[in-house]
Amino acid sequence: MTDTENIDIKKAFAEEKLGWRGYVEWEKYPEKKELATRILNKSKFTPIPEFQFVPLPDTNPVLIGHRWKEYHEVLGLKHIVDFSWETVQKEKPDLIHLLDFPYNGETTREQLMEGKITSNKYHFIRNHGGVPDIDEDVFELEVGGLVKNPVKIPMKDLKDPSKFPQAEVTVTLQCSGTRRIEQIREYPGDGDELINAPWGEGAIGTAVYRGVPLKKVLKIACGGILPECKHLEFIGADTYFKKNNVFNYAVSVPWRKVRANEEVLLAWEMNGEPLPKIHGYPLRVVVTGHIGARSCKWLYRVNALAEPSMGPVQRQEYLYFTPQVGKQNSKYSNGFSIQQMPVSSAIIFPLDKKVIVHDGKITLKGWAYSGGGNWVQRVEVSNDGGSVWYAVNEENMTQKHYHAWRLWSIDIPTDAEGWLEFCVRTWDSSNNTEPTFVRSAWNWDLHVTSSCHRIKIYSVNRTRPETAKRLKLLEEHGEDIYNLSHPPEFSLEPLDEYLAQYRKYPREPED
Ligand code: MTE
Repeated sequence: MTDTENIDIKKAFAEEKLGWRGYVEWEKYPEKKELATRILNKSKFTPIPEFQFVPLPDTNPVLIGHRWKEYHEVLGLKHIVDFSWETVQKEKPDLIHLLDFPYNGETTREQLMEGKITSNKYHFIRNHGGVPDIDEDVFELEVGGLVKNPVKIPMKDLKDPSKFPQAEVTVTLQCSGTRRIEQIREYPGDGDELINAPWGEGAIGTAVYRGVPLKKVLKIACGGILPECKHLEFIGADTYFKKNNVFNYAVSVPWRKVRANEEVLLAWEMNGEPLPKIHGYPLRVVVTGHIGARSCKWLYRVNALAEPSMGPVQRQEYLYFTPQVGKQNSKYSNGFSIQQMPVSSAIIFPLDKKVIVHDGKITLKGWAYSGGGNWVQRVEVSNDGGSVWYAVNEENMTQKHYHAWRLWSIDIPTDAEGWLEFCVRTWDSSNNTEPTFVRSAWNWDLHVTSSCHRIKIYSVNRTRPETAKRLKLLEEHGEDIYNLSHPPEFSLEPLDEYLAQYRKYPREPED
């Protein structure tokens, strides 16, 4: 109960459909939204933690979403928070937990490079709210707005191949926050109330999704769209907060995208298994080649619209600003909405700042991806910061797909020793490549870090006789080259050797 209005919160924000746990309908009830806003306005919440100007905690979960838990709690929705974490522990115990609630989890390096397909247990997760828990038997999808016949389709009909033709598509989903940590390290940016997670290279993954193309549903079930329809809006059953207003997750894509048949799929299967709860069970959208945000999970309503969705995730999030836009001048209208993803890549092995002992070649491995139906055509790697480039051989890349990444590996010739800067850039099928430096494309909301990915490697080339000799000496003394900054206890050059050399080549000229 709130003190002033004498309202029974449990009743006001109750779940209304049997078997649809963790789902509160907001979009149909403006008065319910207003009540939630009044309650939120009266409450005090924990401030967003500062993690851009200070080091990230060395913990797992890395960040704790106190504020979003509190938003749910004051509306009597704590069970949603609890169920989210229970689901993480069941379905995603081994991710890097970047944010505990809303849950954001990143795939580890080993799992990223496991193979072309990321297994369901290790595919990254990006949530904006809790995880709804909806029974498939009672689930139905609503399709309405600017269609000829609005319909409700039970799940069993949607999955019936005699009613709707099915398709399987191999799709890489990428969060626009992938590699955000590089932008933060260069210049800190916006600290949104829904924490802009400090993702590394693992907010990307690839799966085979099975479902029915949305185009077919619109045609077969609804008899087609009306001429005014230009966008399709997707509504998810989770609850989203923005500046003390409450929403169901809502995004949209242009009709032109949906028209391309299998490019927008309503999916219930991921890698041959039912969608995991945390990935949107029982039904999600998979929008190929677009920012992951459009692939709405826990989809329960599709609206055909004349304009893009007015939902805050569509209008106010995932905007791309120019570098001179920031807290002083950013507006929702001076950023553009990110849809198709650009070409990008990452070096996954070796790790930044590694010491590598080698025989003239260093092995690098990583991923490369391009959105919008462009495929990865060439991956190039440099060991001198980007002047000389070596192409990855075709046989060292995984199979091409229109909508999926390619994993690659290369043995790059490396003669030089000491700190070297390695970087990768990818060319896609439309000859697009990546910006050179993080700063070339830094943006206030820290999205789409698609610049050449750079790492620093300490190269130790043991084909060089002097280096081989030193490595042997270190070994004889039980000392380790990998422990680079640790000073050895013994002298690196005996006095007699030093003097012989010094006398052969004295420092001062003779006259
Ligand atoms: N759909 C709903 N309903 N709620 C969400 O929070 N997150 C989106 C998208 N779909 C989200 C959603 C974002 S930002 C991304 S990157 C992808 O889901 C991530 O998909 P995954 O968590 O299945 O990997």
